[in-house]
Amino acid sequence: MKTRITELFGIEHPIIQGGMHYVGLAEMAAAVSNAGGLGIITGLTQGTPEKLANEIARCRDMTDKPFGVNLTFLPSVTPPDYPGLVQTIVDSGVKVVETAGNNPAKWLPQLQDAGVKVIHKCTSVRHSLKAQDIGCDAVSVDGFECGGHPGEDDIPNFILLPRAADELEIPFVSSGGMADARSLVASLAMGAEGMNMGTRFIATKEAPVHENVKQAILAASELDTRLVMRPLRNTERVLTNEAVERLLEKEKAMGAELKFEDIAGEVAGVYPKIMQEGTMQAGAWSCGMVAGLVYDIPSVQELIDRIMGEADALISQRLAQFSAA
Ligand SMILES: Cc1cc2nc3c(=O)[nH]c(=O)nc-3n(C[C@H](O)[C@H](O)[C@H](O)COP(=O)(O)O)c2cc1C
Repeated sequence: MKTRITELFGIEHPIIQGGMHYVGLAEMAAAVSNAGGLGIITGLTQGTPEKLANEIARCRDMTDKPFGVNLTFLPSVTPPDYPGLVQTIVDSGVKVVETAGNNPAKWLPQLQDAGVKVIHKCTSVRHSLKAQDIGCDAVSVDGFECGGHPGEDDIPNFILLPRAADELEIPFVSSGGMADARSLVASLAMGAEGMNMGTRFIATKEAPVHENVKQAILAASELDTRLVMRPLRNTERVLTNEAVERLLEKEKAMGAELKFEDIAGEVAGVYPKIMQEGTMQAGAWSCGMVAGLVYDIPSVQELIDRIMGEADALISQRLAQFSAA
């Protein structure tokens, strides 16, 4: 399938694997890229320029297809070495960066002068327009359904995507709640030129996470995510568990008094415990409502082939039948 997104990134299928902390390692990104999508290494999981350079080299050993790096810009007392990470990306010859969080304007000249295409993840139309204004090449429009940080507007993709299509000139992909061929075809119908998936890619054979994480997604329904940290205006959609319910109790009890320190035990440093050790009650971890649409743990190749095959049938058979009527 050809879209402005496949052309922009030089990929076969308009399917992107979004950056995911402690999931977006070389194995994940290479599997997605080898299957014709765009795999993405999560920069902050590596943390230092040296480790990121090593992870990019490992990924290159596993695929000769294009892959990207996610750079998430978070407000932080001791920020990561962003200049070093950006320079590493440029030096390594990676040609796609997915930015998220704060405005990436500061880094665009350095990246784009080196031929890197930048796709910025946005949870609103106004942020998408801002990304377009500052010169981003594409946008990933992340609806309220998404795993991770949906922002504070709570607009689901059935509204957000057509609104983005009405306003944007640069190409965009849908993100949040995407799982299968229906997601892709609906996204195309609403004006997107591809889709980004997070949660769905964790439940694959190649995802480099503990089996307990995959089974938790498989067992979860669309009712099992919760929004945490809303009082801090840092809302995150996570899979519910004991730690999450405890955190929500604290939020309720403390109201406007709540500070990050009060919930640090439930959210800080929990990713290695969950993703690597499989200690599922260790804390809050991002997961989308789309867990309800995950029924199996296929290989990435099987997943992407299935999506593309069924998308073709949806368009040429199911939709064509209505068009003829
Ligand atoms: C476990 C997990 C970790 C994530 N970590 C990041 C991250 O570090 N940076 C980022 O930009 N997005 C992160 N995301 C968001 C994804 O890139 C993607 O936008 C989101 O998962 C899309 O929604 P979906 O899960 O419904 O597919 C994460 C998502 C999950 C599920």
